[in-house]
Amino acid sequence: MTSPAGPAPVLVVGDAKGAGTAERLRAALPDLALEPVPTDRLAQVLCDGLGAGRPVIFVGALEPLFIALAPSLVSGERPSVVVAVAADGSQVTPVLGLAQGADVLARRLEQALQSQPPSPRPGRLAVIGLGPGAPELMAPAVRDELDRAQDIVGYTTYVRMAGPFRPDQRTLDSDNRCEMDRARLALRLAAEGRHVVVVSSGDPGIFAMATAVMEALEQADEPAWRAVDLAILPGISAAQAAAARAGAPLGHDFCIISLSDNLKPWSQIERRLEHAALGDFVMALYNPSSKARPWQLGQALDLLRRYRAPATPVVLGRDVGRPAEQLTATTLGEVWPEQVDMRTVVIVGSSLTRQFRRDGGGAWVYTPRWYPEAEGA
Ligand SMILES: C[S@@+](CC[C@H](N)C(=O)[O-])C[C@H]1O[C@@H](n2cnc3c(N)ncnc32)[C@H](O)[C@@H]1O
Repeated sequence: MTSPAGPAPVLVVGDAKGAGTAERLRAALPDLALEPVPTDRLAQVLCDGLGAGRPVIFVGALEPLFIALAPSLVSGERPSVVVAVAADGSQVTPVLGLAQGADVLARRLEQALQSQPPSPRPGRLAVIGLGPGAPELMAPAVRDELDRAQDIVGYTTYVRMAGPFRPDQRTLDSDNRCEMDRARLALRLAAEGRHVVVVSSGDPGIFAMATAVMEALEQADEPAWRAVDLAILPGISAAQAAAARAGAPLGHDFCIISLSDNLKPWSQIERRLEHAALGDFVMALYNPSSKARPWQLGQALDLLRRYRAPATPVVLGRDVGRPAEQLTATTLGEVWPEQVDMRTVVIVGSSLTRQFRRDGGGAWVYTPRWYPEAEGA
């Protein structure tokens, strides 16, 4: 029955996990014309097939049906040949009909599976946002993803923030600023079947790794990368975290602008600041200042002072959600660039943003949700 001339075996795939193994058998044994039996016709095909002396190959678990049919398999007019194949193809067992050649068929299937190794299953890549730093500000879905990951890829500071990890989890952290390299590494690992997490602080879609992964994916045009189960899991961004500590400064229309001119020209940043000021947006300024970019914030504040009153509330949130958190409520007239570093988000109010005394010190800052002319409209 294992010769091309014999009756074609019936191929039964017990569960979805066996689909890949069934495919491998079909690809390696074209002469057997193996066709998986559709589940709605399973009993019928099995009975007809056995009646016609067709061998039966079970891939994966199908115990209830097999047990139900066992008496007829053993006592039927034609002795049956039944071979069971583990869902992952790791084991092939002759179950019935040894004398009729079940072992011969089993060996043939085994050889076929060896000649047709499983193609690596695409893995999962999750680009996650840790939030500002405090564990309680991390989304449960992100926590869960970190717990399930095999490889954690990211900038060293953020990988540390995401840990600790178990010994079976691998961290691939670097101080390397090349986000594209990191994104490609993550896609490559996921395409090999690994469960990979790429970590970002705050939200991964805001000046962070989700964009790099999208860019790498589009540029590479790699089918194996496209097959990866890709998910972006949001996090609380620095502006939201700082705003919540300060009150509600983002209560009306606002925008987020990065002051880093590493990836865009300074003239573009100035134009955006100017238009945001003209539009009376509250602004959250990210990447406000660094040792390598010491003058940009001063210039940005000078520009904004041309459009906003000195009393305009300004919030400086430094290391928000982290042990060294500092929150300062000041004004556009009083803020000076030396108060700000790379670990600070600067929120500049609109013409309506207000602040008032907070019991215990400092001030509450908020932006009303209405404009005077629209009140009661
Ligand atoms: C490259 S951006 C990353 C933003 C991040 N993806 C987010 O959504 O918060 C880095 C900038 O975000 C701001 N930032 C990030 N985390 C912060 C925190 N915990 N406290 C204050 N500012 C933070 C700072 O302005 C910093 O220079």
